[in-house]
Amino acid sequence: MAQLLITGGAGFIGSHACLSFLESGYSLVVIDNYSNGSIEALKRVTQLASLEKGSKRLKLLSGDICNISDLDSAFNSVDERIDAVIHFAGLKAVGESIEIPLKYWEVNVGGTLCLLEAMKRNNCRTIVFSSSATVYGYPKEIPISESAPIEPINPYGSTKAAVENILFDLAKSEPGWRIASLRYFNPVGAHPSGFLGEDPNGVPNNLFPLISQIGVGRRSQLEVFGANWPTPDGSAIRDYIHVMDLVEGHRAALEVLIDQEPQSFVVNLGSGKGHSVLEVVNAFETVSGKKCPCNFVGRRLGDVACSIADARLAKELLGWETKRNLMDMSYDSWNWQKINPFGYKTNK
Ligand SMILES: NC(=O)c1ccc[n+]([C@@H]2O[C@H](COP(=O)([O-])OP(=O)(O)OC[C@H]3O[C@@H](n4cnc5c(N)ncnc54)[C@H](O)[C@@H]3O)[C@@H](O)[C@H]2O)c1
Repeated sequence: MAQLLITGGAGFIGSHACLSFLESGYSLVVIDNYSNGSIEALKRVTQLASLEKGSKRLKLLSGDICNISDLDSAFNSVDERIDAVIHFAGLKAVGESIEIPLKYWEVNVGGTLCLLEAMKRNNCRTIVFSSSATVYGYPKEIPISESAPIEPINPYGSTKAAVENILFDLAKSEPGWRIASLRYFNPVGAHPSGFLGEDPNGVPNNLFPLISQIGVGRRSQLEVFGANWPTPDGSAIRDYIHVMDLVEGHRAALEVLIDQEPQSFVVNLGSGKGHSVLEVVNAFETVSGKKCPCNFVGRRLGDVACSIADARLAKELLGWETKRNLMDMSYDSWNWQKINPFGYKTNK
């Protein structure tokens, strides 16, 4: 079974992916600088995967994707060659990207360039990249297909689009590359055990962690941005995807890259279904038995009424589609927060 390098494996999606790849028999080298990840998450991955202490199937390295020698050390840390990279490491907060755009370009684009150079030096030409539906900007049509215009409206989205372009140019110039850019919609939920989940630093930017933290009493009410969107209940609609479905999408993409002739593709990972903020609040109240008080405030700049993936290409190309619904996402998010009210830390 293949040996993988996972960048950003200590983060929300990366930790779930590590577990899923280990359970499928892969061996992993994980590199993370822990700027937004947790070593505790990786310890729990080791336990959930029933790995023995010191197992050669999971090597954890503290390092930065912007640092050439950290990357070379990662490639040289195992005797076997690294067959593929699953590239999660990056900065992901839209608001922050507007405040410190250069940092976003440095890490998301500069870091990816360093990684691609390191891959070439170490003769590894297979990569699965975490892109984002933010590359579409204001969608002109719903559902959003992969052929929709790429018109990002913030630096975060621009950096994701830039990396997609770099990967496109690379695949054209050297046909041996095998590249998947996966455009995630809204990843939420947690591992069903309740031992892995999303643990944002400070005030969460996303709906599910906010509602879950209200449920455990860490916050008092939800600010709902906009009550008069052109949607059935007036609140904004998003395509939420369970993190376990998402990581299974990565496995499917990797298998296509490994099993088939070299190719490069871009594909949406979403459910193809939309849920409004108020529907999510409702689902959460049902699974938790907790009230989530809502305070309606104005729309945020750059928000859109509705964003839903056209999920057909993923099914055609990868033979993958989501299996978990809004109740599963709400239940698993709540289960994680209930067991770990302060995330991976005992107190915050
Ligand atoms: N969560 C989402 O809503 C979402 C949506 C679309 C795309 N994505 C993309 O998916 C990827 C993973 O997202 P996530 O939600 O797990 O984020 P996350 O912040 O939880 O995980 C990212 C990980 O990368 C690490 N990291 C950051 N900079 C690094 C660097 N320079 N060197 C090494 N490690 C570094 C962080 O410590 C963290 O562990 C990101 O690239 C993100 O842009 C996320």
